[in-house]
Amino acid sequence: MQARDVALLRQTNDGRCLVLLLRLKHLAKSILAVGWVNKAVSRARHAEAEVFGSNRVLGHVLHALNPLPFNREQAAVMRGARNYHRNLRRDRRSHVQLRRNIHRLEKGLVMLPRRDVFATDYIAETMAGYVRAVAQFERSAASIDRDELAWAHDVLDAYFRACSPGHRVIDEARETFSGLPPLFPSGGKAPTRRGDRGASTITFDELRELSLQRRSVRHFEQRPVPRDLIDRALGIAAQAPTACNRMPYEFRIYDDPDLVRAVAQLPFGAAGFGHQIPTLAVVVGKLDSYFSARDRHAIYIDASLAAMSFLFALETLELSSTIINWPDFEPLEARMQRLLGLDLSERVVMLIAIGYSHPDAMVPYSQKKQLDSFRSYNKVGE
Ligand SMILES: Cc1cc2nc3c(=O)[nH]c(=O)nc-3n(C[C@H](O)[C@H](O)[C@H](O)COP(=O)(O)O)c2cc1C
Repeated sequence: MQARDVALLRQTNDGRCLVLLLRLKHLAKSILAVGWVNKAVSRARHAEAEVFGSNRVLGHVLHALNPLPFNREQAAVMRGARNYHRNLRRDRRSHVQLRRNIHRLEKGLVMLPRRDVFATDYIAETMAGYVRAVAQFERSAASIDRDELAWAHDVLDAYFRACSPGHRVIDEARETFSGLPPLFPSGGKAPTRRGDRGASTITFDELRELSLQRRSVRHFEQRPVPRDLIDRALGIAAQAPTACNRMPYEFRIYDDPDLVRAVAQLPFGAAGFGHQIPTLAVVVGKLDSYFSARDRHAIYIDASLAAMSFLFALETLELSSTIINWPDFEPLEARMQRLLGLDLSERVVMLIAIGYSHPDAMVPYSQKKQLDSFRSYNKVGE
């Protein structure tokens, strides 16, 4: 860290804590550089893993004795579930339960063969959510995602047309639906026949070339990244698949130099290049998208799939990038939460440095694994 950065950081309490943390890290590194200390620490870690990794009960014992490593994740999952339920009754730009249920209806509609009656266990809940969303739209059209509402309308319309009359729950929901005022012209968002689309116009070789062209670049020209390019690339990121189409993430983009510097100083992985990043994306997973802990990993999966599309899109727009790791390390988590004003249920998944590659930038070769060391077919237990 440069002296100028230290001086800047020392102007705030948070910054002073961060400087202290970095100094401690530096001290720890110096101590670890002493050969025998390093060996002793490594042996202790190995011994701990041997003992507590040998069976599940011992693993639980370790985490009961020291709950800190998983404490934030547990708290975040619970806060997310709490917010999920609270949000059901709040005005929201996007309604996650509605998104999920509408998607479940879509899946029912595209089933081959399609059943005459389906979704009886959640159509009432879906209609209640839709009615609330429509009421919000009528109160304040700008407060809600119009496309999401139009999609919900079209899928519900297709669902009620597809289901045979005679089932009490469906008939009641249908009646509620037909009693609602028309919102705005919609149509075209119900499932469609895919048909024969013919060969892709993007060849395998083109995609391969793009994948080979993309490399993690860490040094950038000192010129701003146009926001419209970021937005265009995010349009591609949004096309990535997500569990039940929830899209449980937010790409927070920072291009104010002071903010970029403040954020980029937090992760360990940006050491040595964080000070010259023109634009930084903080990918935040939103655990308030789920009512149950069972889905807690979907924020990482969905956000990462979107991130990969984002990186490829940036590449086609002549922009380079590198992902920066965000470890679950409490002192940094707390600082990031405060700096970005994150709710406890919002978890940073990764950071992405973005910019125009510096003409002198070098990239590591980063050998990939050979196919047969990460691919298997029909593998089962012994
Ligand atoms: C989850 C994740 C975390 C990463 N964290 C860092 C990081 O903290 N600092 C860094 O310089 N590179 C980081 N990288 C970039 C990797 O080092 C890089 O992707 C890898 O070496 C392969 O190189 P390539 O991206 O050029 O193919 C990260 C990549 C991923 C996917």
